[in-house]
Amino acid sequence: MIVAGPDDSFTRSLASELGADILPITRRTFPDGELQPRLMVSEQINLKEETVILAMRMKAASCRPNDYLVEYLLTLRNLKREMKAGRVIAVIPYFPYARQDEIFRPGEPLSSKYVAEMLEAMGADAVISVTVHLHRLKQFSDIFDKIPGVNVSGIPSLAREASKFDLKDPLIIGPDEEAIIWAEEFAKHVGAKDYTSFIKERDRETGEIKMTVKEFDLTGRDVVVVDDIVSTGGTMASAIAAAKRMGASRVLSAFVHPVLAEGALDKILGAGGDVVIAGDTLEWLGSRASVVPELSKAIKEML
Ligand code: R5P
Repeated sequence: MIVAGPDDSFTRSLASELGADILPITRRTFPDGELQPRLMVSEQINLKEETVILAMRMKAASCRPNDYLVEYLLTLRNLKREMKAGRVIAVIPYFPYARQDEIFRPGEPLSSKYVAEMLEAMGADAVISVTVHLHRLKQFSDIFDKIPGVNVSGIPSLAREASKFDLKDPLIIGPDEEAIIWAEEFAKHVGAKDYTSFIKERDRETGEIKMTVKEFDLTGRDVVVVDDIVSTGGTMASAIAAAKRMGASRVLSAFVHPVLAEGALDKILGAGGDVVIAGDTLEWLGSRASVVPELSKAIKEML
């Protein structure tokens, strides 16, 4: 088995868990913005008998899901059709365009489904992702027609890290109603007895957030705000500020996918976040919660 990915700690750790070799990938951007991901081989090789785990991650902060998608699709096509890999398991820790899992207004694309179709067309034999933002679909596999789609939870990795902080009578908060499932899962993992969610409304045109909070006396208690994604940081920051106002001692901000558009981290810290625990589903040096154990388990179950 081979893990194809950039030469970084994520790729090395995944390969080590799987007992696989590494096929490094370099990523080049031409002055006009075109991309050239290269599998680092000295001669054209034939991977006919091999199972290849393609494990490229999107870069946090620069927020270029389109670049990531193109790089990913080009590499997938290259592995499957040029190098004739026997089987390619596409590991896409943060699945881009997942939020558009419904046509909300006439004329919009059903982007998550179209991304799945592109992965199938470029040769993926299976796709594994982490905490996919599925609020209207029942399961991740529903967006694929021809191949299996496996959705692994990133919440246990956040809980493992948060448990190191000796939490005092913690309240686990999902910043919006959709996040209650993650708050509940997280609470189970850290053994917290209380979890809840706030209510968030977002203006579809302007993106502006209005948060309705539930009131608690949080004096002497720790709070963990748990969400799947932090993009602009607005949702997380609003929930942190509310918890601080209610007297929380420490507020930990835990999220699986550090998309982190410009200024997001400043918003979280500015709102009073004491600790940031983010998954390593995107390339970000601040990630401390690794989803590699969960990914390698899912890969082994697929073999
Ligand atoms: C939305 O439903 C997601 O679960 C996140 O709450 C959202 O993507 C966070 O976005 P932002 O950081 O831009 O507020």
